[in-house]
Amino acid sequence: MPADCGIDEAAAVLRAGGLVAFPTETVYGLGANALDPNAAARIFEAKARPSFDPLISHLADAADLPALVGAVPPAVAALADRFWPGPLTLIVDRPAAIPPIVTSGLDTMAVRVPDEPSARALIAAAGVPVAAPSANRFGQLSPTRAEHVVAGLGGAVDVVLDGGPTRCGIESTIVDARGERPVVLRLGALPVEALVEAVGPVEVRQGSSGRPVAPGTLAAHYAPRTPLRLDAVGAHDGGRRGFLAFREPPADGDWAAVEVLSPSGDLTAAAARLFDALHRLDAAGVTEIVAEAVPDAGVGRAVNDRLRRAAATWH
Ligand code: TXA
Ligand code: MG
Repeated sequence: MPADCGIDEAAAVLRAGGLVAFPTETVYGLGANALDPNAAARIFEAKARPSFDPLISHLADAADLPALVGAVPPAVAALADRFWPGPLTLIVDRPAAIPPIVTSGLDTMAVRVPDEPSARALIAAAGVPVAAPSANRFGQLSPTRAEHVVAGLGGAVDVVLDGGPTRCGIESTIVDARGERPVVLRLGALPVEALVEAVGPVEVRQGSSGRPVAPGTLAAHYAPRTPLRLDAVGAHDGGRRGFLAFREPPADGDWAAVEVLSPSGDLTAAAARLFDALHRLDAAGVTEIVAEAVPDAGVGRAVNDRLRRAAATWH
């Protein structure tokens, strides 16, 4: 069992090369000192994560970015200024201080400042940038509670900080704003509409097959252990089935377990509950999960993206 301790002790574990799982506003992260290649290697090992899938580095404060990477392109700085702390990850050139294992050999790095006071306090106390992917085994459901981390990674983590359920519930939006027009590499908790309002038109260029743009955006990802399908048609294998609904339970059908994401139809609330609901359905002893798509607007696009990738795992 990983230890539960205070922020200062957890920061000392990070400085000593250990792994600390901590809450952010999006999902729980599995943190290690981003300046220490051995510590970063432990993340890949604990998650069984392929070495080609680079990590996001987390800073305590937006002002720490120029100190780490030097000058940043004006559009990147503008987005950081507008949305940090927050669920936006930005792509910058990798500085020499960040070892290549963190970026999987890319000459760019992903970086963000989480909007969660305890996370920022942890990073500040550690005094180093903290590399942190979601604290789940590779390809599986993301953790939105400390219990999910313990169940998924258990003894592979030195410390788990429990901050309760995370506020956004899905991962940050990843944007490469180094070129002429910002490119969204992963849909996430910051809606595309908010980006457009701040910086004008953006391009959404998510990877889905072959060599993905953001290597973690593989076609199959975010998957429960139970087979998940997005379309109820033809989904009848006679077993106990679970249903993931957006606003209300299905009117017909024989469902052994039903989770409703948001009775009031609120997409932000639905995103916040998505992985928690999938974790519960996964634990409900059903043989199949049927998930209903949500309206494809705002953060709903990111929810549908997660559902599509979860379903793709089972095709
Ligand atoms: O909300 C989040 O972003 C959470 C919390 C913990 O901050 N972290 C997270 O990390 O979702 P992870 O490892 O599950 O996803 C990181 C994504 C991957 O898809 C990875 O390929 C992409 O970031 N990424 C990292 N560095 C990149 C780079 N230099 N260029 C493009 N994509 C990159
Ligand atoms: Mg992840």
